[in-house]
Amino acid sequence: MPFLLDGNDRLQSLSWTLTGNHWWQRGTLRCFRRVRLYGFLFGLMVTFLIMAVYILTGERKGLLLTPSPYHFGSLINSSPYNLSFSKDYSSIKQVVKSIVSKVEFSSRQVPDRKGLLYSEPQMFSIIPNKFLSKVKNPCWYEEYPGNGTEDPYGKNLYALYSRRFRAVFDHLRSAFRKHLYNTAGKQYRIRCLPYFYIIGQPKCGTTDLYNRLRLHPEVMFTTMKEPHWWTRKRFGIIRLSDGFHDRYPVEDYLDLFDLAAYQIQEHLLRNETTRQKKHNIIIGEASASTMWDNNAWVYFYENSTNGEPPFMVQDFIHAVQPDAKFIVMLRDPVERLYSDYLYFGIANKSAEDFHERVSESLQLFEGCLSESSMRSCVYNTTLNNAMPVRLQVGLYIVYLLDWLTVFKMDQILILRLEDHAANRKYTMRKVFDFLKLGSLTEQKEAEITKSPASNTRRPADKSLGPMLPITKEILQEFYFPFNQRLTQVLKNDSFLWVTDTEDAHN
Ligand SMILES: *[C@@H]1O[C@H](CO)[C@@H](O)[C@H](O)[C@H]1NC(C)=O
Ligand SMILES: *[C@@H]1O[C@H](CO)[C@@H](O)[C@H](O)[C@H]1NC(C)=O
Ligand SMILES: *[C@@H]1O[C@H](CO)[C@@H](O)[C@H](O)[C@H]1NC(C)=O
Ligand SMILES: *[C@@H]1O[C@H](CO)[C@@H](O)[C@H](O)[C@H]1NC(C)=O
Ligand SMILES: *[C@@H]1O[C@H](CO)[C@@H](O)[C@H](O)[C@H]1NC(C)=O
Ligand SMILES: *[C@@H]1O[C@H](CO)[C@@H](O)[C@H](O)[C@H]1NC(C)=O
Ligand SMILES: *[C@@H]1O[C@H](CO)[C@@H](O)[C@H](O)[C@H]1NC(C)=O
Repeated sequence: MPFLLDGNDRLQSLSWTLTGNHWWQRGTLRCFRRVRLYGFLFGLMVTFLIMAVYILTGERKGLLLTPSPYHFGSLINSSPYNLSFSKDYSSIKQVVKSIVSKVEFSSRQVPDRKGLLYSEPQMFSIIPNKFLSKVKNPCWYEEYPGNGTEDPYGKNLYALYSRRFRAVFDHLRSAFRKHLYNTAGKQYRIRCLPYFYIIGQPKCGTTDLYNRLRLHPEVMFTTMKEPHWWTRKRFGIIRLSDGFHDRYPVEDYLDLFDLAAYQIQEHLLRNETTRQKKHNIIIGEASASTMWDNNAWVYFYENSTNGEPPFMVQDFIHAVQPDAKFIVMLRDPVERLYSDYLYFGIANKSAEDFHERVSESLQLFEGCLSESSMRSCVYNTTLNNAMPVRLQVGLYIVYLLDWLTVFKMDQILILRLEDHAANRKYTMRKVFDFLKLGSLTEQKEAEITKSPASNTRRPADKSLGPMLPITKEILQEFYFPFNQRLTQVLKNDSFLWVTDTEDAHN
């Protein structure tokens, strides 16, 4: 069953990730609106909520809600526009005009290394400054202190919280012992980080890219798809009763690269004496949240920064891997948003419902912009959780500029889904070149480019048809200034998405 990279994570009912919480918040807001509309008692909602939380989390104790940073009341009433949502097209156009007039791209303060070290001491104590020079992929040896009787994955939280990956860890366990490297009476295990990351965006074809790339004989991925470690698991799991708990340590993340690391080690050892050129197996990691999702920051970092996160995901990746490579797949943000909407399991989906959610999200966004900067609104966790569609994910340029504060442009490959759908050979070759992969036989290349597209729209959603023309028009206006800046930065007009006609893909 093809899951979208980002959606995959949301379907894990076991782990209450940030996203899980997000859903809950969203549901709450909808309820609230109805309550307001029909004049039900607020108390009823609270009761419902507590019951819902109780049922959803399966918690049998401690039903106390954590102090919530979300202020429903003030959010709902803050808009100066008086919309009866869906039908008032001219008002919503006013909202968009107001947003567009406030678009500005401010720069960010890049944190120094000391601050990063202080914030994630464990990460920096585990990952060395230098990697093995004989292999292309970043890897190192770490002394393994065990005596061979303990379970190397016994404490791994990915294994603990995700039933689906138990089998994967059984496999890892059986391979572990024989890959320990013994020398001078000590045991060492090989550790690796990814050579490249597919970082975004959701509903832009990253799953398809992942499925093709893994067919390349020199490319291996994590043993489970979408670790979401940098953006989410690193911060732990939310239990509504007791807040965040169980932050996944960096070792749990590194464990996911073990199978690929063994391959690298085998090549390394086989050629140990010959000192030949670097070995070519590389590891990839694909989590479609990496580019944009900094929503956890507000719970973990000091908040005296005018609502802008003082540390971002890319700061940490850069600190440990300044040479990492990143692949980003984008598509027309208007279509992305609709696809995102269709993907998630919402009851009674319709083009009208989408329009209503878009209108409401735009209003919330505008409300934030009237008080705060563009950057702080894009990274405003409260706002992001309140918007009934994820408008912010399509503001590609805001995220890209922030990645470019620490990485160089030539470390980031930016593709368009529209090009990929039209000519997969072209995009795959770009990717292979970017990753400096060896040449393929024609047969292998055909295998990689010809297999059918993954993760296209479900048949039930296809029957919904396209979004309303008015919604499209409104969204195009909203995204335009952002796309325009993107084309300037990338020096390529195709990122305006004016000529593409959307086909059935996704
Ligand atoms: C908003 O609309 C309602 C009903 O349509 C109306 O009674 C109310 O006066 C309006 N408020 C403002 C501030 O325009
Ligand atoms: C290995 O170490 C564990 C504690 O880490 C100990 O309980 C166990 O007896 C040891 N086993 C052997 C064979 O030394
Ligand atoms: C050793 O490395 C060379 C060059 O990378 C490679 O062609 C050869 O197949 C390797 N040898 C073995 C036994 O894998
Ligand atoms: C920052 O966080 C502290 C503690 O959580 C809180 O009391 C304070 O109001 C926050 N300040 C801002 C500007 O959000
Ligand atoms: C985040 O958004 C909410 C809702 O628009 C707003 O009330 C709050 O002031 C914003 N916070 C910051 C720091 O901009
Ligand atoms: C979906 O629509 C059905 C039929 O119109 C209605 O009974 C149901 O309450 C709706 N569900 C939601 C969540 O709005
Ligand atoms: C712009 O991007 C398109 C693909 O989206 C590509 O075909 C074209 O070569 C690019 N133009 C330039 C000048 O790089």
